[in-house]
Amino acid sequence: MRILVVGGAGYIGSVTAAELLAAGHQVVVYDSFISGHAAAVPPDAELVVGDVRDQETLTPVFSQSRIDAVVYYGGFIQAGESMRQPGRYFANNIGGVICLLNTMLEYDVRRFVFSSSAAIYGEPEAVPIPEDAPTCPVNPYGESKAVVERLLRWYDSQCGLRYVSLRYFNAAGAMDTLGEDHRPETHLIPIVLQVALGQRDALPLYGSDYPTADGTCVRDYIHVADLARAHVLALDRLNEGSAVYNLGNSQGFSNLQVIEAARKVAERPIPVHEEARRPGDPPVLVASAEKAKAELGWQPQVTALEEIIDSAWRWHREHPQGYG
Ligand code: UFG
Repeated sequence: MRILVVGGAGYIGSVTAAELLAAGHQVVVYDSFISGHAAAVPPDAELVVGDVRDQETLTPVFSQSRIDAVVYYGGFIQAGESMRQPGRYFANNIGGVICLLNTMLEYDVRRFVFSSSAAIYGEPEAVPIPEDAPTCPVNPYGESKAVVERLLRWYDSQCGLRYVSLRYFNAAGAMDTLGEDHRPETHLIPIVLQVALGQRDALPLYGSDYPTADGTCVRDYIHVADLARAHVLALDRLNEGSAVYNLGNSQGFSNLQVIEAARKVAERPIPVHEEARRPGDPPVLVASAEKAKAELGWQPQVTALEEIIDSAWRWHREHPQGYG
């Protein structure tokens, strides 16, 4: 298939673009470069630089050559930032997807894989979280994903769009040449590793009074290659109709456990500075990924936390300035 990867110069999008190429698909990367990096785009992919809300750039992608399916990674992703700038998140994460879906329909493209998020569950009643748990986001980022999932049901029932929405838990780890480089970086594992590299003095630990075993938040870390593989499987699943899947390892690790694992991997001290809670952080997010395993035949390959962190550590050591 010829697949449009929106956000294909970003962390998870670039790994998926590489995985799709390896699976024999043609790939067109569409990226605004607000967060993406030219160096992360696989050399065999075509590249179009633009925002999905810019119709003059988007329309020719569909009008000039046939696109069979679209994979979307174009959203802003920081829960904390979304608490301060909700409108920016709604405009891009909801408005941008609407522009994209309407253009797809105009050109009769009806296959869509959407990057959703564990953030749509908010503060779940129980973990591991199944897909049919209530969606009650506690930050505008999660709300933006929940709204798009509701819109997608209408695009399916009224317009015949087939979609798979993949609710990622915490993406982590790296490939040999592709890794995590957000500017500014806000995610726990890359910041911990920047402390290990001496690029920061200490890790700011946001909150140690949560209702968890050690008082810090608990997350489910999933290797970026396993996420990417799920997209390739999801594209095949589209023939059977629309669906929603959690993607996680079904194991929760507290922020302190992540820091301890990183100390072992890097064999360096990682000083921590306790700070107040970060607004918008749910205490615990752990996936039930049974549905993806049963229906997609998905099986995560890199499941041990230290192995995930080790892949990230290797990339950060070899790319201390990220993509430069
Ligand atoms: N944290 C710190 N210090 C830091 C950075 C993070 O203590 O410097 C803490 C956070 O407060 C949180 C945990 O580490 O308790 C994880 O935070 P991240 O920012 O790494 O990840 P989030 O869980 O906030 O969000 C990530 C993605 C979202 C996705 C979500 C799903 O950014 O896109 O996982 O679980 F929706």
